[in-house]
Amino acid sequence: MAYRTEQEKFWAGSFGDEYTERNYDQEGRLIANNIALFAKIIAASTHEWSTVLEFGANRGLNLHAIRTLRPGAELTAVEINPTAAAHLRTIVPNVHEGSILDFEPAEQYDFVLIKTVLIHIQPDMLPAIYEKLAQSSRRYVCICEYYNPTPVEVVYRGHTDKLFKRDFAGEFMAKFPEFRLVNYGFVYHGEAFPQDDVTWFLMERGSV
Ligand SMILES: C[S@@+](CC[C@H](N)C(=O)[O-])C[C@H]1O[C@@H](n2cnc3c(N)ncnc32)[C@H](O)[C@@H]1O
Repeated sequence: MAYRTEQEKFWAGSFGDEYTERNYDQEGRLIANNIALFAKIIAASTHEWSTVLEFGANRGLNLHAIRTLRPGAELTAVEINPTAAAHLRTIVPNVHEGSILDFEPAEQYDFVLIKTVLIHIQPDMLPAIYEKLAQSSRRYVCICEYYNPTPVEVVYRGHTDKLFKRDFAGEFMAKFPEFRLVNYGFVYHGEAFPQDDVTWFLMERGSV
């Protein structure tokens, strides 16, 4: 597969395989933590939703948690890493294997999620990804990433150019003002049900 960015090749290759296997070792605990996170996010979303699209779903630990909380939800995922996509297919009926940058949404989904994926995207490509988020969402977009008020790069497991923090949700809403902020929150790594110090933003399309 020919990818446009170094970051896509990084995740499609052996680094992404190893990440996927590493997550397997702690699967039960990570799903419990995700259930605690998505219980808050679902409680913040006042309208019912049943169709979900996750960008960069890896082995499905978020979708697994969402399915536990919303058993009837119809799940769809986009994932660039083939090992992760193979795992995903065991729990998610609709898996699009490939880059978000090449994904053309054929329909809209009630709830569109991206969690710790924007931080790994080549920053010049962010406007194109924000476009995919807006295009594919019928109502909600949930961005759950590492927040920083100004863009910064952080060395990631010894690799440069692979992790960037910024105000992703703020940039998304500036580009698509039809989305308004519903709620947001921070999950500290020292909590009872920790996350990796992520900040979540739930946004809703205002004109629905
Ligand atoms: C840090 S992991 C996060 C996985 C999952 N979202 C979670 O919260 O557990 C980043 C995931 O995004 C995927 N990814 C990175 N860049 C991508 C791209 N351009 N298109 C599709 N998936 C991508 C990686 O393969 C990996 O599965």
